[in-house]
Amino acid sequence: MEIADRSLSAWGIVVAAGSGTRFGGDKHMATLGGISLWRWADRLFTDVGLDGVVVVGDVPGGIQGGVRRQDSVAAGLAAIPDSAEIILVHDAARPLASAGLVRRLLEAVAADNVDGAVPAVPLRDTIKRVHGHRIEETIDRSELVAVQTPQAFRGKMLRTAHLQITSDVTDDAAMVEAIGGSVTVIDGEPSNIKVTFAADLAMAESLLTEESRR
Ligand code: CTP
Ligand code: MG
Repeated sequence: MEIADRSLSAWGIVVAAGSGTRFGGDKHMATLGGISLWRWADRLFTDVGLDGVVVVGDVPGGIQGGVRRQDSVAAGLAAIPDSAEIILVHDAARPLASAGLVRRLLEAVAADNVDGAVPAVPLRDTIKRVHGHRIEETIDRSELVAVQTPQAFRGKMLRTAHLQITSDVTDDAAMVEAIGGSVTVIDGEPSNIKVTFAADLAMAESLLTEESRR
């Protein structure tokens, strides 16, 4: 596809193989606006015109995931052609990411000397380091951000990172950072919330209704 006036192949991985423990089960099959969460993520990548999308999880057309999120991403990587120059990874648990966000990520990762691009939003809450119930420190949040998905990477870099990093991580950028890759941060979307608990789905429904009124 055309990215930053260049022709680069771009593939997407949607991870939907979690157990939804905090949600109360089968999160990716839950519906938002009548469409299941994993389909929102799959459609987003298809609508943007990616060269291919792999869905990881027990859904129609999906491939089998792994124990940890990063194992599910690795399963997705194994199903993508080696020639993919850019790979996007997205949580099925974030149904409201926009096509505009994906396009901005693709532009950012196509820049020279950039290995990855991730969306982030400022923190809302005051953050403290605690030991049990005792506050040890209030952390200056001016330099902290909350990171979302989709995350976009140079395909080779993401593959190398997944081969080299075996410790537990919570996102793909952490792996690319750990091997010395440069990951750039772009403006995320406040409405791109992650459905973690059942109440988050109700929040997503109201954001969707708000969106459709605009
Ligand atoms: N995920 C995955 N494979 C895993 C674990 C998580 O594909 N082994 C996916 C989830 O399906 C989700 C995303 O990673 O789309 C983010 O994970 P999270 O929100 O934590 O979902 P779950 O792991 O399913 O939820 P929980 O941690 O409450 O069990
Ligand atoms: Mg989880």
